[in-house]
Amino acid sequence: MNYHPIFKKAKIWQRELINRTVLAPMSRVSATTDGMATYEMSKYYTAFATGGFGIIITEGIYTDASSSKSYDRQPGLINPDQCAAWEKITQSVHKSPTLIFAQLMHGGALSQCGENTLAPSAVQPVGMKSVSFGGEGSFPLPKEMSIEDIQKMQDGFIRAADYAHKAGFDGIEIHAANGYLLDQFLTPELNRRIDRYGGEIRNRFRVISEIITGIKDMVPESFIVGLRVAEGKVNDLTYRWSGGVETAKELASQIKLSRPDFVHVAVQTGEWERDSFYGDGTSLASVIREITNIPVIANGGFHNLEKAKTALNEKHADLLAIGKAALADPHWPIKTRDNLLTVPFHRNMLWPEATISHTLKIIHKLDTVES
Ligand SMILES: Cc1cc2nc3c(=O)[nH]c(=O)nc-3n(C[C@H](O)[C@H](O)[C@H](O)COP(=O)(O)O)c2cc1C
Repeated sequence: MNYHPIFKKAKIWQRELINRTVLAPMSRVSATTDGMATYEMSKYYTAFATGGFGIIITEGIYTDASSSKSYDRQPGLINPDQCAAWEKITQSVHKSPTLIFAQLMHGGALSQCGENTLAPSAVQPVGMKSVSFGGEGSFPLPKEMSIEDIQKMQDGFIRAADYAHKAGFDGIEIHAANGYLLDQFLTPELNRRIDRYGGEIRNRFRVISEIITGIKDMVPESFIVGLRVAEGKVNDLTYRWSGGVETAKELASQIKLSRPDFVHVAVQTGEWERDSFYGDGTSLASVIREITNIPVIANGGFHNLEKAKTALNEKHADLLAIGKAALADPHWPIKTRDNLLTVPFHRNMLWPEATISHTLKIIHKLDTVES
């Protein structure tokens, strides 16, 4: 059979992948209020494994009890009970030949739930909180993190990675994209520090490189440690670096030095070809791939198979992450490979709430209307 290149086998670090499809991380507001993953989440993630995804990246998981939580009913990985709850999910997913990575996330100034938020500098975020994630109104002015706050936050990521390994995940993804805390450190307009975590790119990236080193020192070599980066922000979709491709190259050079096992390049709007290019045929993904020689996952509207073929054939990326199309139909890989119809995404699946149960309700409703 002459399948689309997204269905070719691949490798990441030492692990074989059944194809090049990756489930993009998507927050689902469906954990218990004390951050425990649930049976509903287990069924949700298992469906992507039986649906044929090569890799599942979980929703962003919080990393410490004090300041990292991004919204109520977010899952955590900060204690043995939360670890045990995730273990049930990894065991269920591993009945299929799919890898599962935990996305570790600190919301920083963009938390939907806290009033006492932390950030590299005291800069109030633009935009409004999201109703679908339980937020309301504008974001509060965050407190500038002290060096002690930074160390505590980094320890949170390292401990959460250790819990992820104990819970049976194949790896983790450090969320440094989309305007959340680690991206706030990377972004000069949001990071006005004059210490070793502010100023030139090497300093702004330091907070991330120290986390990567700390995690790699903690877990076995076979455990995969990836990094997600992006230009756009959830609260500011049109944000772009002023330095264009030169900034992309500088960031890539820093990533190369810290040696994550993969890099995941996100496009917040879902329009990869519109928002990720620099006018010279290169994209943030291809610049990072070329400079680092590390496997790259690209993301943003890749349920469009023409777009997916171009990204793979023109070597912008090695793997492609699918978000909303997978949320609407977890069997997207198998159905697409076999030329079957998939359930299309509809915005009501996330409105007025982004919970798993709400999405299922809307899918059922659309199904009933269609038939
Ligand atoms: C409901 C929802 C929740 C999301 N939550 C996260 C998240 O927790 N972490 C993250 O890095 N990106 C998150 N994203 C962004 C997606 O990973 C992805 O970048 C975006 O949906 C674009 O990909 P797509 O065009 O395939 O949907 C979320 C997107 C959606 C729709």
